[in-house]
Amino acid sequence: MKNILITGGAGFIGSHVVRLFVNKYPEYNIVNLDALTYAGNLANLKDIESAPNYTFIKADICDYERMCDLMQEHAIDGVIHLAAESHVDRSIKDPFTFARTNVMGTLSLLQAARQYWNGDWQGKLFYHISTDEVYGALELDKPEEPAPYGSEFFLETTKYNPHSPYSASKAASDHFVRAYHDTYGMPTLVTNCSNNYGPYQFPEKLIPLFINNIRRGKPLPVYGKGENVRDWLYVVDHARAIDTIFHQGKVGDTYNIGGFNEWKNIDIVKVLIKTVDKLLGNPAGHSDHLITFVTDRAGHDLRYAIDSTKLKNELGWEPSLQFEEGIEKTVRWYLDNQEWMDNITSGEYEKYYKDMYQNRS
Ligand code: NAD
Ligand code: TYD
Repeated sequence: MKNILITGGAGFIGSHVVRLFVNKYPEYNIVNLDALTYAGNLANLKDIESAPNYTFIKADICDYERMCDLMQEHAIDGVIHLAAESHVDRSIKDPFTFARTNVMGTLSLLQAARQYWNGDWQGKLFYHISTDEVYGALELDKPEEPAPYGSEFFLETTKYNPHSPYSASKAASDHFVRAYHDTYGMPTLVTNCSNNYGPYQFPEKLIPLFINNIRRGKPLPVYGKGENVRDWLYVVDHARAIDTIFHQGKVGDTYNIGGFNEWKNIDIVKVLIKTVDKLLGNPAGHSDHLITFVTDRAGHDLRYAIDSTKLKNELGWEPSLQFEEGIEKTVRWYLDNQEWMDNITSGEYEKYYKDMYQNRS
């Protein structure tokens, strides 16, 4: 495969996938297609932007005609589809945008690929990146005991049961991808991953938001009692999994990706406080008072826990980083890259990069 279209490559996970592919596969042409919504930031890719095998295109996946043209223009053989609206709280306020991008945008891309490939599936692949949130929520069996907090895990065979407009839109897009495989024979893959953390995550999500707030002495808004459980994976490990599955995954199949790394939100917050205070040279406990319990998120899923045994057994992938190491690395990155963060919180990033590309859409 030669020409690979990665959508959403200016976002958090997409930028790590683009970086990995551009550096690891000089023989591939990597086309990064991104609409540069509030979540897209080309500063995430500064280190590879002038690589000879890299092209950026500002475009909206919902623009079907444009997708058809681009597939042809760049002779695309493989698609790795990450572009999406990704924040649950935004989906609660504005579900239409989620249906538009996540459902209609995915459909537009699928149809453009089908139209261009025209039944010649040899060497072609449409790989769709999804989330564990489509499976719904798990119970806490023993809330007072350490992780794992329950005996049940999400498997590839777990029935979909999404609760938020975000997860409902991702579930619908997953169904469309599988429908294109089953109906037209398109070679597809779907993966469902747990919560990611690491460098370049937009600071509306728990970990970067809280690191920045601790640094600036601002309150840390913990939803409800902070007892919800998430399974955290270092983003570079997710990118490595995507690479493995893209090249070795069984076409038409689904793989779960996760870290077997469950944490209650309140415990994560304590780790973040401890790590930021340590790295800033503050005395222990300095920022504890910032924890502020606020009204819970509507329909807040209690527990996510992924079983990624299939991926380990079939393709040999495992997370490379222990959480303690990953979180320290992450905190250090945000503290060392305050300009990246400050450009986002001030809105500067949108002005600079969006002006630069406004004539290219
Ligand atoms: P993100 O919000 O950081 O990035 C999304 C990117 O998509 C942005 O660059 C944005 O500009 C682009 N985009 C949005 N709408 C677009 C459109 N209409 N056309 C073209 N580009 C558009 O998201 P992320 O956290 O990097 O997530 C990437 C993918 O991985 C998503 O599909 C998400 O559902 C999935 N996922 C995320 C997580 C997580 O923890 N962040 C976990 C599992 C799966
Ligand atoms: P988030 O990073 O938004 O990811 P997701 O909702 O996709 O899991 O949130 C992670 C957890 O942290 C989730 O249980 C909600 C909680 N949370 C807070 O308690 N406060 C916050 O300000 C945010 C953004 C999230």
